[in-house]
Amino acid sequence: MAHTTNDLVATDIEAYLRLHEHKSLLRFITCGSVDDGKSTLIGRLLYDSKLVFSDHLAALESDSKKVGTQGGELDFALLVDGLAAEREQGITIDVAYRFFSTERRKFIVADTPGHEQYTRNMVTGASTADLAVILIDARKGVLTQTRRHSYLVSLLGIRNIVVAVNKLDLVDYSQEVFDRIETDYRSFAAEIGLSDIVCIPMSALAGDNITEPSPNTPWYDGPTLVGHLETVEIADDLHTGPFRLPVQWVNRPNLDFRGFSGQIAGGVVRPGDRVRALPSGQESSIARIVTADGDLDEAVAGQSVTVTLMDEIDVSRGDVIAAASEPAAVADQFECHLVWMSDEPMLPGRPYLLKLGSRTTGVTVAQPKYKVNVNTLEHAAARTLELNEIGVCNIHLDRRVPFDPYTANRDMGGFILIDRFTRATVAAGLLHFALRRADNVHWQAVEVDKTARARLKGQRPAVVWFTGLSGAGKSTIANLVEKRLHDQGFHTYLLDGDNVRHGLGRDLGFTDADRVENIRRTAEVAKLMVDSGIIVLASFISPFRAERDMARSLLGDGEFVEVHVDAPLSVAEARDRKGLYAKARRGELAHFTGIDSPYEPPETPELRLDASGSVSAEENAGLVVEHLRRAGILEPPAPGAEA
Ligand code: ADX
Repeated sequence: MAHTTNDLVATDIEAYLRLHEHKSLLRFITCGSVDDGKSTLIGRLLYDSKLVFSDHLAALESDSKKVGTQGGELDFALLVDGLAAEREQGITIDVAYRFFSTERRKFIVADTPGHEQYTRNMVTGASTADLAVILIDARKGVLTQTRRHSYLVSLLGIRNIVVAVNKLDLVDYSQEVFDRIETDYRSFAAEIGLSDIVCIPMSALAGDNITEPSPNTPWYDGPTLVGHLETVEIADDLHTGPFRLPVQWVNRPNLDFRGFSGQIAGGVVRPGDRVRALPSGQESSIARIVTADGDLDEAVAGQSVTVTLMDEIDVSRGDVIAAASEPAAVADQFECHLVWMSDEPMLPGRPYLLKLGSRTTGVTVAQPKYKVNVNTLEHAAARTLELNEIGVCNIHLDRRVPFDPYTANRDMGGFILIDRFTRATVAAGLLHFALRRADNVHWQAVEVDKTARARLKGQRPAVVWFTGLSGAGKSTIANLVEKRLHDQGFHTYLLDGDNVRHGLGRDLGFTDADRVENIRRTAEVAKLMVDSGIIVLASFISPFRAERDMARSLLGDGEFVEVHVDAPLSVAEARDRKGLYAKARRGELAHFTGIDSPYEPPETPELRLDASGSVSAEENAGLVVEHLRRAGILEPPAPGAEA
């Protein structure tokens, strides 16, 4: 590899930049375990491409002397393992993206750790890569982690694989060793659908077959690593696929201009092309492709553009403008792969947020169909997914969204799940297909609606949701409220935690997952009762904000009244009418709220009742009834009101 272009930096910076601008870009990921020599390899690539800054180099030389693991030679691993803590541990623990360039191509390499626990980092790095370099230590051959990395790479849609059989100097550059590893790897790779494989014998430390063919492997006549990376053709599925533009924002500087901006996620677009906006399904044609440097005749996947349409149709942020002849599908229930990335295990039924392209919606995940043992590829039954686990699940979105299967388009079928409160990313997911059952179950229109039923009862149906610790007094207050409303002629029903658990929730215990399911079922029942025109009083510990919010989201505006029955733990525990706190303290009852299971108090409840003992239950019940009266719940619906 020559470095003459780098001389341009000094003489003609403009020319240098232009040269770089027109080179194609290859994104790749390196996968290997702690000792495979991955950091050394990346360090070598950076060093040989001469883009290592000179002050970095000076530091490297002195570091090498200091640490000295390579006997005074440059230790390339030091170039990469930036963190001091990592140097001591000898493992890399996060994804680092590095840029380098040769005369023919630019590269972005995602360096991800090979350590067993860091599946999530690898998934992050692989999701944008075109190619994967899988390192194998020639002395060890194909290992469990080689299989794991290959499975993940295949799952994430990378089709081009380089197997770097490294440290060949330590096995006397043996062709036999190399051939055996290649045969082993190819037979395994065939099982997981990887076929585009190039195996290269090398020593990253000694520099064999990295940039120049090595005299130590005269029996090898394939490409060097850099030679291959510079010339490998990446199947351009994105450009050949159908046009997709996820709309990031609607650009409307004045009434005469309405443009839709975003990065093209697939295909090619030209003025005049017929397009369909999704999910609305309305069609129009492309009028202009606008950029800061003037209009374009054509734009392709990867470009950020603003398009305008011939007609005023319904397109908003998060929608997709797609080729009318091959539009994306639209659905709200899917089967998908999930890679769990949070320390908190997945809770089936818990509402999370799903971000697909520029669109964010609510989502719940059903119990996994199975999880995949990434070491053996076996499927195992699972009730949840824990950190770094991969499973196949059905998910249910609260809105219909445009999508393509991940295998057809990574941007249109790859998503993340987000925790509603911490906003942390908890999972990465790949859409497989929409569930047909959503198409075959239709909403049945009924003649008598909620308003009609409510009018007959002379009230506005709602759920009054009492939450608080066991022993706070929820049931006592809810009971008194129901009695008063009933005496005044209102139609009510009290759903009480203990009672519901004798029937509807008989199969559920008190793990986080079971509580989530308990509240989900109760909220669905409460919703049906509200539809029937009833004022529902629900009394449940309901310790998690996420599920109380989910219950709220099932109901209309003003139909969910959250009442926090607020008693300090010490007061609730002192009451202990059922003796459960005592049992929990003795260790005879696990997952007891307030003891070894959390309670998340509401942040903005409609009503907070002081249940510390200074206000009587009668008074608190009076406050609830008063609130309902002020909120208009104890009046008939206004004439003409719609359900
Ligand atoms: S919730 O958390 O799922 O909302 P729910 O209100 O249905 O709980 O049931 C709580 C009642 O179950 C308590 O009033 C108490 O009598 C009983 N119980 C039994 N075990 C537990 C436990 N581990 N934690 C809390 N309550 C428990």
